[in-house]
Amino acid sequence: MEENEQLDMMNLLLNEKRVPEITRENRPKMFSRKEANKARRFHMSFDNYEATPLYSLDHLAKTLGVKKIFIKDESSRFDLNAFKVLGGTYAITRLICEKMGKDVSEVNFKYIREHAAEEVGNAPFVTATDGNHGRGIAWAVHELGQKAIVYLPMNSAKRRVEAIRETGAEAIVTDLNYDGTVLLAIEKAKEVGGYMVQDTAWEGYTEVPTWIMQGYTTMGMEVIDQLALQGYDAPTHVFLQAGVGGMAAAILGLFVNIYKNKYPKAIIVEPNAANCIYNSAEVNDGEAHPIDGDLQTIMVGLACGVPSPIAWPIIRDFSTMFVSCNDAVAARGVRILANPARRDPKVVSGESGAAGIGAFSLLMGDEFKEVKEALGLNEDSVVLFFNTEGDTDPVNYGEIIWNGKYRIPNQ
Ligand SMILES: Cc1ncc(COP(=O)(O)O)c(C=O)c1O
Repeated sequence: MEENEQLDMMNLLLNEKRVPEITRENRPKMFSRKEANKARRFHMSFDNYEATPLYSLDHLAKTLGVKKIFIKDESSRFDLNAFKVLGGTYAITRLICEKMGKDVSEVNFKYIREHAAEEVGNAPFVTATDGNHGRGIAWAVHELGQKAIVYLPMNSAKRRVEAIRETGAEAIVTDLNYDGTVLLAIEKAKEVGGYMVQDTAWEGYTEVPTWIMQGYTTMGMEVIDQLALQGYDAPTHVFLQAGVGGMAAAILGLFVNIYKNKYPKAIIVEPNAANCIYNSAEVNDGEAHPIDGDLQTIMVGLACGVPSPIAWPIIRDFSTMFVSCNDAVAARGVRILANPARRDPKVVSGESGAAGIGAFSLLMGDEFKEVKEALGLNEDSVVLFFNTEGDTDPVNYGEIIWNGKYRIPNQ
């Protein structure tokens, strides 16, 4: 690896635009406790609903020099290996509820399953995905007995494509990057008269992505309860990985609403090849600034070049630091979680899911002393992570674990 690539291992940027105080006015209302309860109540009506585990990695915490490390493991979410299905199921349900003239609090999943066909007829649900979102949509649409058409970017891993096809959905791999694939899916949805169910927003398309993000708050609400059960109020820090920023903004927005001025310092982690949130923070004019390119990274779930316009203002206002990192950082996270020491549980984490732990493990090293101090990361810190996916590309997961691929140079 060249020297300049090493320097590019991890870029850090403190947020200059963070609002100093949480007030009734600046709390993001769409992620209030009331809204989050609606989503969780709906998810709890699924036959196979179970809160995913929150693990405490005590040995790792001791090794890295913090009080506690908690990791919410979404690899078991509805047996789909990623958190994303929380968003898709909720958005499709809200869409159908709107057609029915019902509030989501009046229905459960069984009711939606029984009445979906009357409301949507034969129109397909269309989406673009790097894998996890599309799998969630395909699964939900299959459960509802409807048709899904899913577009994927070039070089999509075989297993991710197969997992979507196994639900009966049509999966089409394009020769475009993620952002180009989204544009193509919008056109195709129009052509076939389908319902576009996308996890990012654009002008005139904000309702569905807002519902998707509200769906993600179910995992945030579970964490809040799980921490409380272990005697913890707000964590001091949370690492949130970002693609378009929807997941990060939903969880951060919820924490701001629930914990108010005690909400955790949020560190947003992205791949260098797709660091649109970092780029927006770097330009520092308060606006979102997309990045271009082929967006090639092993953190495929984070390979998005355009920030969601719903997510960006929340991330801008409430996060503390932005991290843009090399693939080797994520691979380190995958290996750390797969090889626990002492009694820490093993966590199977895919490349996007492990980016936060990878970045944190390096941040706690001596060379980042000043940043650690600025962030207040020390032996009193309670640090929260979300493992947002399991081994969704088992071939690459094997390469990382078995063959030590994507190593940090000189380590
Ligand atoms: C595993 C995983 N983690 C995190 C994210 C980031 O979510 P968002 O695009 O909402 O920022 C994704 C998105 O697909 C993902 O698949």
